[in-house]
Amino acid sequence: MNPINHVAIIMDGNGRWGIKHKKSRNLGHRAGLNTVERIIKSTIKKKIKHLTLYAFSTENWKRPQNEIKFLFKLLDSFIDQKINEFNKNNIKLKIIGNINVFNKKLKKKLLKSEKLTKNNNRLQVNLALNYGSKSELINAFKILNKNKLIINIKNIEKNLYTSNIPDPDILIRTGSTNRLSNFLLWQLAYSEIFFEKKLWPDFKEGDYNKIIKKFRKTKRNYGNI
Ligand code: IPE
Ligand code: IPE
Ligand code: MG
Repeated sequence: MNPINHVAIIMDGNGRWGIKHKKSRNLGHRAGLNTVERIIKSTIKKKIKHLTLYAFSTENWKRPQNEIKFLFKLLDSFIDQKINEFNKNNIKLKIIGNINVFNKKLKKKLLKSEKLTKNNNRLQVNLALNYGSKSELINAFKILNKNKLIINIKNIEKNLYTSNIPDPDILIRTGSTNRLSNFLLWQLAYSEIFFEKKLWPDFKEGDYNKIIKKFRKTKRNYGNI
């Protein structure tokens, strides 16, 4: 049975879910938050130590202003409502991505939440915000260059947002689109990838369990036979 240290998820399909239910894309995003809570609880039950959630990509700035605004409002109130519960449940929150461009108040809130939960160790939730794998890699290369460090795997990994986080064993993408959309391109080198038809708000614990079961039985070769 393969051990699982880390599950990463591209939570896709909120907008389509909203439209499908004759509501707005934004209501789809709100519905997606319920899945976030379900999956966090389920990940704890499975005793998996790392869960990484792709919430906003460096390319998502291309979306209409009203949707971007709504997403950040949702994030802001989610943190307000849930951070103490996270803390009580021994969950550590880590942000991956460039949050320097966020407004001061939100940035401060995110940093404060990380600080509050930094000693928790039941589950680490890595929230990918304004995350893009290509800029993450460029950033790491720049640091190595500036400090005249040699380019090797260890030095690169030390300077990614995900330093100290094991590579994902499993990547799940909901919403029936089979692509990576600039997510963890380096870290996913040997992950098992599961593309799921269901839209994120429809993704349930049972769907998660099925993926885990399938993963457990997969033979991971890492180039060997
Ligand atoms: C993913 O859902 C969530 C974010 C990018 C914030 P989408 O908003 O991409 O939903 P679809 O793919 O348009 O349905
Ligand atoms: C990926 O979904 C980003 C997140 C889930 C945050 P997108 O909906 O942005 O991806 P594309 O644009 O369809 O590739
Ligand atoms: Mg999408």
